[in-house]
Amino acid sequence: MITKLPDAPNVAAPDPFAGPDHPIRKVTRQVAFDGEAAWTAGRADKMAGLFNDMAAGWSAGKDSEVRAMPVLDALARGEVNLAGSWLEVGSGTGAGAVALHGSVDRLICCDLAAEMLANAPAELAPRVQADASRLPFAGAQFDAILMINMLLFPLEVDRLLAPEGRLVWINTLGDQTPIHLPAQDVLAALPGDWTGITARAGTGFWASLRRA
Ligand SMILES: C[S@@+](CC[C@H](N)C(=O)[O-])C[C@H]1O[C@@H](n2cnc3c(N)ncnc32)[C@H](O)[C@@H]1O
Repeated sequence: MITKLPDAPNVAAPDPFAGPDHPIRKVTRQVAFDGEAAWTAGRADKMAGLFNDMAAGWSAGKDSEVRAMPVLDALARGEVNLAGSWLEVGSGTGAGAVALHGSVDRLICCDLAAEMLANAPAELAPRVQADASRLPFAGAQFDAILMINMLLFPLEVDRLLAPEGRLVWINTLGDQTPIHLPAQDVLAALPGDWTGITARAGTGFWASLRRA
């Protein structure tokens, strides 16, 4: 079950950007619902190449304050453990690390694309190049896993989260985010029974999910 909290005061409708027929949506749903087997080496190479090519200009023209709104609201209302150990998966050029800075002390950022990591601030968190389908971390060690506009790899999330840990799922453009899954679908894709809360903030939404 997922409980919807009231909208944050800063809610705004996203401009139309990426509808349900956006090509990356198909991959997003397949990876979430058909299992990690849908994530082939060819897909991983293509994805890394795509984001390596976009890395230098990724942050330009994006309103970092608006993009941070769902992250900050999730920190405030998402029942997360700020003193715990956090992992951001698909951390890109560091927008999440910037938003978490000052609130979360223990953060590791990881991303598939070396150039995205190279364009992220080095001083905020250790950056690890890794594929989210097989992350180089021991199981059950993170109190929170943050994913902002990132593909969901349900088995790795389940493996890495501590028993009381939470997945913080954010789409900064709501259903206009190219890599988008509604909160209810994230809940359904995770193995076993999960529960959580969700709310809209800025132009996006967040969901904070834990095992039931
Ligand atoms: C849409 S971008 C979002 C980046 C950042 N979270 C943000 O909001 O600015 C998706 C990111 O996920 C990364 N990514 C895609 N597939 C991945 C995988 N299998 N493992 C790790 N990172 C991946 C990409 O390289 C890219 O940096």
